[in-house]
Amino acid sequence: MSESDDGNLSVVYVSGNQGMLDDVKELWEELNSMLLQCSVNFKPHFGTMTFEKRKLALLKKTEHGEIHVDVAVNQLGNQKVGYCISTINEQKEGEIESIFVEKGYRGLRIGDALMRKAVAWMDSKDVEKKLVSVSVGNEQVFGFYGRYSFCPRRTMLEQTKNL
Ligand SMILES: CC(C)(COP(=O)(O)OP(=O)(O)OC[C@H]1O[C@@H](n2cnc3c(N)ncnc32)[C@H](O)[C@@H]1OP(=O)(O)O)[C@@H](O)C(=O)NCCC(=O)NCCS
Repeated sequence: MSESDDGNLSVVYVSGNQGMLDDVKELWEELNSMLLQCSVNFKPHFGTMTFEKRKLALLKKTEHGEIHVDVAVNQLGNQKVGYCISTINEQKEGEIESIFVEKGYRGLRIGDALMRKAVAWMDSKDVEKKLVSVSVGNEQVFGFYGRYSFCPRRTMLEQTKNL
């Protein structure tokens, strides 16, 4: 556990592995609702996605890899206010799977701390590359990722319905 003081706000960071996934269920659901709202072509995907499905997919992806979870906790009230889930797959590719900070806590460098912790974890594991997927409609986050040298590389298209 590590601490950082943001004015009167005292945030502690707790890290762990897949055993901590359930701790971020509510925050993940807020992120999924946000992505549902801003999605252009994939609203049904976000509308039918559940935390349980996402968790299963993460566990499957990392059967021969690893999951890392960082959670930001406001010590006042012991409230979870942000998280980042990162993974390393069998090919040694690191990925920021999900990062979210509660609206009222943004701009306080919590996202920065979460991002740096995730990247430091990947670096400690000597990953081959580091990736993050951004949903179309949420491009506003490019500027944030750009601060950590994550840049758009390709646009992947996915079929929305069968011909
Ligand atoms: C993206 C997010 C995690 C950033 O968290 P945060 O705690 O507000 O970020 P920080 O306060 O640590 O900001 C760190 C720096 O990035 C900058 N920054 C934050 N969001 C930014 C954005 N969308 N575009 C450009 N810069 C941004 C901040 O200004 C700050 O810069 P500074 O060091 O010059 O002050 C948060 O806005 C969020 O949860 N967004 C919604 C969820 C989301 O889109 N997740 C990504 C899914 S792919």
